[in-house]
Amino acid sequence: MNLELDRYAVFGNPIKHSKSPQIHTLFAQQTKQPLIYTAELAEPGQFTTAVNNFIKHNGKGLNITVPFKENAWVCATQRSDRAQRAGAVNTLMLQQDGTLYGDTTDGVGLIRDLIQNHNIVLSDKDILIIGAGGAVRGVLEATLEQQPSSLLIANRTKQKAVQLANDFSDLGDINGCGLDEINDMNFDIVINGTSASLKGDLPVLPDSIFREHSCSYDMMYAAQATPFMAWSQENGASQIFDGLGMLVEQAAESFYIWRGIKPETPTVIKQLRQSLTS
Ligand code: ATR
Repeated sequence: MNLELDRYAVFGNPIKHSKSPQIHTLFAQQTKQPLIYTAELAEPGQFTTAVNNFIKHNGKGLNITVPFKENAWVCATQRSDRAQRAGAVNTLMLQQDGTLYGDTTDGVGLIRDLIQNHNIVLSDKDILIIGAGGAVRGVLEATLEQQPSSLLIANRTKQKAVQLANDFSDLGDINGCGLDEINDMNFDIVINGTSASLKGDLPVLPDSIFREHSCSYDMMYAAQATPFMAWSQENGASQIFDGLGMLVEQAAESFYIWRGIKPETPTVIKQLRQSLTS
């Protein structure tokens, strides 16, 4: 390995199937930025040691994925406002003075994918987000910035949705409820932010949540339609997307934070989609 090049990596556990090295290598080629990006397995309890070690070896920035986003938040001596509120950091950048700056780009990733790649308007829309874990927390601020007419978080464990809505209630019209409380409701945009798709599972949902022109979005992605996407198709959603574009867009924002240059994303999304299905 060429130690002279700036190094970047994604830390997670597990990490083998991460698409981030592929995405950032494509970004680096496209923007002619000389850098190396790898995927690194970090052990629980060893996260900070692994970060320090990486920096010693010419590491300039990191992406952080499950289960270390809260650890990364703690590691950062400075944080963006959005990371501060999210309580999680997916992007660390080494600063001139040797300290780490932390940011979270998941929310920007979701919103850019919806708006720029899929032409979905969020303002004045009724939005439902299913789930109330870290993934959902990370996208709430950016979603509320779009000024939807309402944002409802519905979760299997009601209390977590209520708490989350409470934490963001100063930013807009946001409420939390149990999944069993949305029976007679319908929405313009329904976003699945649960980890159910990871296990090939589906949250239990009423079959009437879509309107005539509703959009359905799964924050997960797969070579084939996820169970939530298949369910959306059967139950009348008119536009259905997975989270591959979100993954690429959040990566592009991280790349911009590190290198000050914005890569073009559509070609990278296309290449990634091809490699997923081939
Ligand atoms: P992440 O960091 O991916 O958000 P998490 O914090 O563990 O992971 O949160 C997982 C979310 O998916 C939770 O909202 C969880 O619901 P509970 O809070 O009730 O546990 C939700 N989830 C996972 N599997 C689910 C399923 N089969 N049906 C409904 N919700 C599910």
